[in-house]
Amino acid sequence: MKMTIQLILAFLTPSVCVSGDCDVLHGKTSCITEDLLQMIIRVNRQSDIKQGSKQMIAFLAFVKGTPVLSNNGIKFEDVETNIGNHYNPTTGVFTAPISGLYVLSSMIMAYGDAKVEYQWRKNETVFSTGYTNHANGSSQSQTYVFELKKGDRVFLKHRTSNSQKLYGHRCSYFNGYLLK
Ligand SMILES: *[C@@H]1O[C@H](CO)[C@@H](O)[C@H](O)[C@H]1NC(C)=O
Ligand SMILES: *[C@@H]1O[C@H](CO)[C@@H](O)[C@H](O)[C@H]1NC(C)=O
Repeated sequence: MKMTIQLILAFLTPSVCVSGDCDVLHGKTSCITEDLLQMIIRVNRQSDIKQGSKQMIAFLAFVKGTPVLSNNGIKFEDVETNIGNHYNPTTGVFTAPISGLYVLSSMIMAYGDAKVEYQWRKNETVFSTGYTNHANGSSQSQTYVFELKKGDRVFLKHRTSNSQKLYGHRCSYFNGYLLK
């Protein structure tokens, strides 16, 4: 809102300039150039303020090796990014440190001759179920926008007692970030 008002002001100012305000600006640049410069400075200041008040939270983790699953929580132990440390690689759980809108996604790829059956959980509740085809290298990805409350936990869980394997080599991962 503030920014919109400033933009409008910035565009209105040149016409004011023509009637004499230009004298306050130095030398060679025209009124319009000066006004555009001032506008850019103001817009930049605004976005600095916005970024400063926003907490940065992001993680990306892959599975290590070729994990064998059997009805357990899926641990993505090979952490690439964990800004804020809210993803726990020893449990596979992401815990929202503040309430907000989060984007979380996963890629699950089957290794060998069995599909992978799994689910997304929010706290202990099943949020969705997923599975890959019954083929080596078959995969499925899911992306969700969640409104999480502070302390909510999100993780993936294998959902059968059959043993099934996940493809490593950075093919199976879990990642997310705070959108707003
Ligand atoms: C799965 O596919 C990969 C890539 O083609 C291959 O290297 C691997 O041997 C296959 N594994 C099995 C168990 O078929
Ligand atoms: C999820 O669990 C956390 C930790 O126990 C709790 O703080 C939070 O309120 C729970 N959220 C929901 C939606 O039940």
